[in-house]
Amino acid sequence: MRPVVWITRQLVQPAMDAVAADFDVITNPTDAVMDGDALVAASHQCDAMLICHSELITAEVAARLSPRLKIIANYSVGVDHVDLAACQARGIVVTNTPDVLSDATAEIGLLLLLGAARRAYEGDRMVRQGLWTTWGPTLMNGIQVTGKRLGIVGMGRVGQVLAKRARGFDMEIHYHNRKSLDETLVPGAIYHSTLESLMRSVDMLSLNCPATPDTERMINAQSLAWLRPGAIIVNAARGKLVDEDALIAALQSGHIAAAGLDCFVNEPGGNPKFAALDNVFLLPHLGSSTNETRLAMGQRALLNLNAYFRGEPPPDRLV
Ligand code: DGY
Repeated sequence: MRPVVWITRQLVQPAMDAVAADFDVITNPTDAVMDGDALVAASHQCDAMLICHSELITAEVAARLSPRLKIIANYSVGVDHVDLAACQARGIVVTNTPDVLSDATAEIGLLLLLGAARRAYEGDRMVRQGLWTTWGPTLMNGIQVTGKRLGIVGMGRVGQVLAKRARGFDMEIHYHNRKSLDETLVPGAIYHSTLESLMRSVDMLSLNCPATPDTERMINAQSLAWLRPGAIIVNAARGKLVDEDALIAALQSGHIAAAGLDCFVNEPGGNPKFAALDNVFLLPHLGSSTNETRLAMGQRALLNLNAYFRGEPPPDRLV
């Protein structure tokens, strides 16, 4: 008998087909986000779950999962939606999908940076709403990205790709990470052992680290003051990294010239206070959303499931 995999959301069809070729599959016909009770009910029907970051496996949910469930294969690189310790305590293996989404997410990081700096939202709105009635040398001037100092918080896989792409804009790369990386991985990049040193040294800041108890709300009133007036901040990582009220205040005062945000504390929906500001470029958590990457994420999750059920170590096992 083939193991049963519960796929909590509608993946791109080739990814659905690939999982169904190797396993018996149960799917979510409505594609609605599954809450804790629904996840617990599903766990009684399957040996494995393939979940997205929209499904929260809290400690309370993990404690109620069926003993039949052996592995949770995340269709995401971030796993802040899963209480790893609680899963480990239940003997449930947890995997994620690193590497395959780095290019797509770095693209969105650059899009956010360019969109915020060059006032993409205001420009798009002006043309769409028929408000573009004149052109002049002072029309909607933005901030040039080329040659500026870019600070990257979290020089993991996504951060490294972003740094590489940003070098194409002649940006000077600075980064803060738990440890400095080999020069070959981040050529020419300047390491800062503290967030304060990084933020005091750059013109533009990109968040590319995971959300953990150590990094949550790392961008707050105090740290925003470390950025120079007129700085730009972008977030394609997790909303929880930011104290949103503090960032909104800094955007309103002009201390932060513009922000580009793909992630919010509350998702879906985001924060209407950001939406009320012209100097914010907003996206609905699209970091990895290309057809190519969403298929690759499915294949990576499948790789982990197949390894586990063959009795081999899943390559992306976290616990
Ligand atoms: C990730 O993989 O963490 C992305 O945010 C999509 O879930």
